[in-house]
Amino acid sequence: MMNLILFGPPGSGKGTQAERLRDSFSLRHISTGDLLRDAVARKTPLGKKVESIMAAGELVSDEIVLELIREAIAATKADRSRKGWLLDGFPRTVGQAQSLDGLLGKTNEAIDEIIVLEVDRDAIIRRLSNRRSCPQCKAVYNLLNMPPVREGICNKCGKELIHRKDDRPETIANRLDVYEAQTAPILEHYEDKVPIHRVDGGRTVDEVTRAIENAVR
Ligand code: AP5
Ligand code: MG
Repeated sequence: MMNLILFGPPGSGKGTQAERLRDSFSLRHISTGDLLRDAVARKTPLGKKVESIMAAGELVSDEIVLELIREAIAATKADRSRKGWLLDGFPRTVGQAQSLDGLLGKTNEAIDEIIVLEVDRDAIIRRLSNRRSCPQCKAVYNLLNMPPVREGICNKCGKELIHRKDDRPETIANRLDVYEAQTAPILEHYEDKVPIHRVDGGRTVDEVTRAIENAVR
């Protein structure tokens, strides 16, 4: 088993790297952001509850994401084709980290490594303003350096790409502040408990993938 947490600010490349690590290590990619956006797109009761919170770049409640995580981790255990999970965008508060510890204690699982992607604020704003995302297969593009082959269309599944509602300049700034205030302190919680690898996420996508693969092998 290999259970990883991909950690880092909005736009640091978690989704981009997760797509690759999922395939190279046969992991289940669990992104609470993707799960919540699916609920919003399907207009479920949960989706209606979280839509405006997400559009403002605030965090949804710990209870909501914990329920999603509980289900996704249980599904990974039941799936023999997966060798573990890769958490992206969770945990995001110290409370979520403590709840995850409790959950894993019960199922006798552990976090093997935490990978932190470090990218500076200016680069993040540039990346997110030019991001396009596939609502179906979750592939991530960038108009500046990773455009899709056909304008506005996902290379992998052919679906029309979207510009996320929370990728507006004011919202990006708020998401970065929320990360610093509520999410970054999680690393102190894990210090001395789980190995933490800091990776320079400002390099090319391939270089970052290589650095992560070297760190966890
Ligand atoms: P979430 O979906 O988790 O968003 P996020 O953390 O803000 O991160 P992003 O998805 O924006 O960035 P990323 O790191 O995945 O970067 P990407 O690979 O796309 O959360 C969204 C919202 O949901 C939250 O604000 C909150 O409301 C809610 N939520 C989710 N989880 C929650 C939780 N646990 N608790 C409470 N609320 C929760 O890359 C970004 C761009 O950069 C792309 O265009 C990409 O092509 C480009 N790029 C990537 N790597 C490189 C590179 N090396 N060089 C150049 N460009 C690159
Ligand atoms: Mg993402």
